[in-house]
Amino acid sequence: MTARLDSPLKVTGRARYGSDHNPPGMVFGYVVLSTVAHGEVTAMDVTAVRDAPGVLAVYTPFESLELHTPHNPIMGATWVPLQDTDVAYRGQPIGFVVAETFEQARDAASLVEVSYRERTPLTSLEDGLAAAEDAPPSMDGSPHTVTVLASGVESIEDALAASPVVVEATYTTAPQNHAAMEPHSAVAVWESGTLTVYSGNQGSDLQAASLAQALAEPLSAVHAVNPFVGGAFGGKGATSVPAFLAAAAARDLGRPVKAALTREQVFTATGTRAATVQRLALGAEKDGTLVALRHDSWSSTPMSRAFIEQTSHSTSREWYTTPNMVISQKMVPLNIPPTTFMRAPGEAPGSFALESAIDELAVELGMDPIELRRRNSSLAPPGKDLQWSSKHLDECFGIGAERFGWSQRSEGGRVDGDWLVGLGTATAMFPALRFPASVRVTLNADDTAEVATSGADPGTGLLSVLSLIGADSLDIAPERVTPRLGDSALPSGGMSGGSTATASAGSAIMVAAPEVIDELLTLAAAPGAPFEGAEVSYADGRVLATDGRSLTFGEVLRAVDRSSIAAVGSSAPGEEMSKHSFSSFGAQFCEVRVHRWTREVRVSRMLGVFDAGRIINEQPARSQLMGGMIWGVSAALHEGMEIEADGRLANGDFASYLIPVNADIPDVDVQFVQYPDTLHNPVGARGVGEIGIVGVAAAIANAVFNATGTRVRNIPIAIEDLL
Ligand code: MOS
Repeated sequence: MTARLDSPLKVTGRARYGSDHNPPGMVFGYVVLSTVAHGEVTAMDVTAVRDAPGVLAVYTPFESLELHTPHNPIMGATWVPLQDTDVAYRGQPIGFVVAETFEQARDAASLVEVSYRERTPLTSLEDGLAAAEDAPPSMDGSPHTVTVLASGVESIEDALAASPVVVEATYTTAPQNHAAMEPHSAVAVWESGTLTVYSGNQGSDLQAASLAQALAEPLSAVHAVNPFVGGAFGGKGATSVPAFLAAAAARDLGRPVKAALTREQVFTATGTRAATVQRLALGAEKDGTLVALRHDSWSSTPMSRAFIEQTSHSTSREWYTTPNMVISQKMVPLNIPPTTFMRAPGEAPGSFALESAIDELAVELGMDPIELRRRNSSLAPPGKDLQWSSKHLDECFGIGAERFGWSQRSEGGRVDGDWLVGLGTATAMFPALRFPASVRVTLNADDTAEVATSGADPGTGLLSVLSLIGADSLDIAPERVTPRLGDSALPSGGMSGGSTATASAGSAIMVAAPEVIDELLTLAAAPGAPFEGAEVSYADGRVLATDGRSLTFGEVLRAVDRSSIAAVGSSAPGEEMSKHSFSSFGAQFCEVRVHRWTREVRVSRMLGVFDAGRIINEQPARSQLMGGMIWGVSAALHEGMEIEADGRLANGDFASYLIPVNADIPDVDVQFVQYPDTLHNPVGARGVGEIGIVGVAAAIANAVFNATGTRVRNIPIAIEDLL
């Protein structure tokens, strides 16, 4: 186990985040947000703003900074501000004031007089259901209604009607804000025709490409830097409004510009998790064999229809074997803040519905919910028929049940004084993905090495993982390997998203390291070199000759007068994708205590047992999973954006948007079963970033049912749901 290399810098405040950069001559931008949820800006009177002290520029849709919509292969199109007068939600960026100080910019921004032509907003998912539209095909190109029927079965309705046991229920999940510790911000500097942007994001090369497209500048003129990121998890996958505005204003003014959203602005001017309504119907034989599954899902989407929360596709499509399945995904366009990826997009809310429904079916059957899950565990996703590369979910449940004391669970829970105590469980799954990535591996004459890629460590521990895989591939101690990330000038590492970074970058290291070792051996045996003409090999950081002589790689480099040698390795998903299905798996366990009189819910114990292939570094892997599980508690019991009929967010700050504090979280037990998945990638690691949140909300709701007999089908679960 290796401690995270960035931890000392972070806990001592020495880590420099994007907006910690303060180049000389820097000025400050403040973003102006709309105060209506739907309509058009007809005029913006900025006379008083211009006259305010320190103001350098005011940008509006009427006097705008030119920005073009960028597209990237992972995030798709990214909205850019101030390019038209449409208002699609309340809290939408509509102006940008730049002044000598932050305070001057903020004060001046308050003097903008905006006139609107208002239209009635549509903000409630329930009200929007009638106008729901079929979602466009998902990212893998598959349609959003998928039908699998056994031969001779006419419809899923027939299959359900023929099922001896049926449960049907509708579940809802609240929209959520990312609430990352580091608000979206950027510092932009133009110098001799080159733009450098310091800004937290999930992939600096993608950030540089987006900014270059938005500004219509050549890619070579844009340099994106993000050494540290204070929380991302999908919320910093796309380039942010402050980054676009700071970059464009810096070019316009010829001064470095810093722009940072306030905490309140983060709530609407970035990306949120969609609200969902999900209707589930499960049909089973009396022995628990699933024979029919229907999962219809609706998710809120902004009027731009930019993002779909793929709940039914991410869960019901793959998790259980069933001969008859229909899943659908519809979007409900609303005048709400943008929706985007958030930790386990699709699986997090989708698993609440599916895993609650499975628990309801277990109750109906009088069957242990773990036994029911075991019986229907899929060998291959229904309709896809490619078997899982490596699945040890049953073992996760076995270990978890033993460790958690599942056999002590009784129907109706138990009573401890004034507390009703219940246990719940749920499956967790998250697809194992990876993206194309390139990594440069360098050997230095001082016997150190460097592993460098443009990707991001958004707090996941990727830095340490790179040094470990680098050390393993070079056969030297990890302390000798310096990892570098977060700079678009480095080889393209893609995005730290989709729980992919270890598999993507790690695989590229395993290509680059043998190449640089080959080059070292060639150098070592070249004419005039220490091993001229000899047969040489490499081990333990040394070049070895058959006659027993050996030198460290640094000694060889010094002898041939080289300060360093480097190789860039690239890796991408390949034909393995047509041979197997890939996923991480987990079993979530939870104990809740519900107060008999106040109906307060406390989570008192949690355990997650995960099958995520090879674990490279246990400490940060455990932290990732723990963080996900805590986010799951938050989703189940705390978080939810309350959007009023006029589109105002009623709880857009940390005083009113509930997130758990330490006192809400018990000891979180995280266990692994480790089966390296080398069918997926040479490292054998699958993702651990997102699966931690999956299933947690269902495990909690199932535990609440066990404790109280009340089935709550909406999250967050509130006291009034249990009265
Ligand atoms: Mo993640 S939600 O793919 O950053």
